[in-house]
Amino acid sequence: MGDRLEGKVALVTGAASGIGRASAVTLASEGAKVVVTDVDDQDGEEAAHDICQAGGDAIFQPLDVADATQVETAVRRSIDHYGRLDCAHNNAGTEGPVESSRGTLETTEAEWDRLMAINLKGIWLCMRSEIPRMLEQNGGAIVNSASISSLVGSTSGFVAYSASKSGILGLTRSAALEFAPRNIRINAICPGYITTPLWEKYFDDEAVEKRVTGLQPIGRMGTAEEVAEAVAWLLSDAASLVTGVAFPLDGGFTAQ
Ligand SMILES: NC(=O)c1ccc[n+]([C@@H]2O[C@H](COP(=O)([O-])OP(=O)(O)OC[C@H]3O[C@@H](n4cnc5c(N)ncnc54)[C@H](O)[C@@H]3O)[C@@H](O)[C@H]2O)c1
Repeated sequence: MGDRLEGKVALVTGAASGIGRASAVTLASEGAKVVVTDVDDQDGEEAAHDICQAGGDAIFQPLDVADATQVETAVRRSIDHYGRLDCAHNNAGTEGPVESSRGTLETTEAEWDRLMAINLKGIWLCMRSEIPRMLEQNGGAIVNSASISSLVGSTSGFVAYSASKSGILGLTRSAALEFAPRNIRINAICPGYITTPLWEKYFDDEAVEKRVTGLQPIGRMGTAEEVAEAVAWLLSDAASLVTGVAFPLDGGFTAQ
């Protein structure tokens, strides 16, 4: 427990699972009041409940980030319930079908549109609703979940995922420049291979787990809590000079 976010209100998307859930827990443990949002009502409710049970303050708001009306409603809930919005971790994302390579030729138009709607447009919709509230309060901080797939091409054929995650960096940097003079910092994190439910479906196969584990120079996958720690720092006033960065959290993967 710390106090890096004492008095602040934070909204986290995709907070029912994995990185988003760890982020919500960490932000709450640093003193933030947290609006937990997700399309998964059951796990989202549970995440908010667990935070409250541990002594934190959180509410759950159902949210599909690809739906502009739902995004606006979620941000308004933060204002209605907690009176403000200081921080946002725009984290919800999906990798799409995983059963076969989704290369340039295999990706369907429907898959492309869905990945762009959730991973890229979802982040823009969130910022479009969050930033006006932060401007009213003369400041705020936002972290967007990108990926190492934003920094390097996908060797496993996830073309649309990589494109959507790369787009987040253009969006983050441009918005960061736009709002830096008005005291809103906007950064992106680029996680590498992080152990979350997103990966569980691959690890039916021990060989896949072994290969993935060997990809990061630190010799292991990262944890959602390690990512959440960086998110908490970027959202805190300790990172007051940091805006517009793409922050790798990848055990050295992109240093190779
Ligand atoms: N785990 C990794 O190795 C890794 C690496 C790089 C980037 N990321 C990114 O981090 C983010 C979180 O990934 P994770 O590993 O925790 O995955 P996860 O599957 O454990 O969690 C993703 C959460 O997002 C929610 N979600 C999906 N679509 C949504 C939508 N339309 N609206 C709102 N919520 C939605 C899901 O219900 C789930 O709770 C994603 O953006 C992912 O692309 C993950």
